[in-house]
Amino acid sequence: MTRMTKKRVAVLISGRGSNMTALIEAARAPDFPAEIVLVVSNRPQAAGLSRAHDAGIATALVDHTAFGEDRQAFEQALDAELVAHRIEIVCLAGFMRLLSPWFVSRWSGRMLNIHPALLPQFKGLHTHRRALEAGVTRHGATVHFVVPQMDSGPIVVQESVPVIADDTEETLAARVLEVEHRIYPQALRLVAEGRQAEK
Ligand code: GRF
Repeated sequence: MTRMTKKRVAVLISGRGSNMTALIEAARAPDFPAEIVLVVSNRPQAAGLSRAHDAGIATALVDHTAFGEDRQAFEQALDAELVAHRIEIVCLAGFMRLLSPWFVSRWSGRMLNIHPALLPQFKGLHTHRRALEAGVTRHGATVHFVVPQMDSGPIVVQESVPVIADDTEETLAARVLEVEHRIYPQALRLVAEGRQAEK
């Protein structure tokens, strides 16, 4: 039997890292086509950093505040970490920095993001609150390839959940988060196996 070569993946986070954890756990399966080899945070206090460390994954901090207004220097430092770890696929998971066209084109077709809404609905922040305000009956989550426009780009996996009469932002967010944790590993599997390429 030939040994499967797993794609080397970095997860970029800014906060608690529950999607990161879902990816790390899924990637432990012997037949998973990707391995999480690096977690990078732009915030020193991101809870996900210690979770990644506890899981035995290499971590890096590229603190955007250290670069002042110089977005390019920040992104070059980020890119250097990814290159140093021979990263092949980047997963943004609650990474709260907008990335420039330069960085996005460097990783074009090799960078995914998860967004807590049924794109193209509710791009941007506070998606659950906005879904409730809009009175939609279905909400959900989307994994997509990253393009220069925020929360756009070809969709890899999308799954919906019902919006229930008594939902609050918190109950709806929790229902969507369960979906996020399921579809991000599915999407990474598809992309790592080359079964879903950016069109
Ligand atoms: C998730 O809802 C993700 O979709 C959004 O930010 C949140 C990050 O949560 N982009 P976590 O850090 O993965 O727990």
